[in-house]
Amino acid sequence: TTDLITLTNGVRIPQRGFGVFQVPPAETQRAVELALEIGYRHIDTAAAYNNEAGVGAAVRASGLPREDVFVTTKLRNGEHGHESALKAYDDTLQRLGLDYADLYLVHWPNPSVDRYVESWQALEHLYAQERVRAIGVSNFLPEHLDRLAKESEITPAVNQIEVHPSFQQHELTELCRERSIVIEAYSPLGQGIDLDHPAVTGIAGRHGVTPAQVVLRWHLQLGHVVIPKSVNPDRIRSNFDLDGFMLAEDEVASISALEAGNRVGGDPRTFALSQIR
Ligand code: A2P
Repeated sequence: TTDLITLTNGVRIPQRGFGVFQVPPAETQRAVELALEIGYRHIDTAAAYNNEAGVGAAVRASGLPREDVFVTTKLRNGEHGHESALKAYDDTLQRLGLDYADLYLVHWPNPSVDRYVESWQALEHLYAQERVRAIGVSNFLPEHLDRLAKESEITPAVNQIEVHPSFQQHELTELCRERSIVIEAYSPLGQGIDLDHPAVTGIAGRHGVTPAQVVLRWHLQLGHVVIPKSVNPDRIRSNFDLDGFMLAEDEVASISALEAGNRVGGDPRTFALSQIR
């Protein structure tokens, strides 16, 4: 399909993923099974979401060959450090009930303990041992990426960060592009806040699609991986159904003009140890 983006190590990641941040553990298996039925082949979870078991159960129950589904999970904030990160990966696989993750991320640079370089080196070790297909980071700012570049060997394959029309992090995404770090946009719909802008609803009306489809299409055309979250079957379906239209250049530009500094998630500079994501 045309859906795949190639990471620097040659591994291909489906550009449209299904995110399960804030999907209640008891609902996760059902939601992920539906997503896989609809055609999603990329699921994004994290130890901190407490729903890895549901993700793994759905992947196993789907009957799809394991290699046909791309599974991402993340190292929890409380498990930074070399030995703890290695153990955390074993525990994560156990909860997933899978032999490997396709992509393992350091979830936050964790300013309060500042051991993310150690954790990264543990992920490099897992990668060298071929226990994971690709490794990356999440919520890393330029200063954190620079530290990894100085103190470690492997450039992260991805940086998963909050990106949506009203919060685009231009400087950071530019730097990732320069270093061939794929941008994964979390909260790609701004948790819903970006869907009412007249610019978005106007374009949606012209194309006969939903505002969410317009915003997701905008991400795809900018080369972002997207992981919209939904527990609603119709929205899970429509968030995947993005092939029927293209935005014109001026439409992409009018959505890009919505930048307003509207962060909806945590700030990596201050994000506390106890919080999730
Ligand atoms: P729900 O789970 O009830 O669908 P993001 O992925 O940017 O964090 O956004 C997730 C939020 O947006 C959730 O509250 C989700 O609610 C809602 N959402 C997901 N898809 C859509 C959509 N297509 N239209 C409107 N709201 C959506």
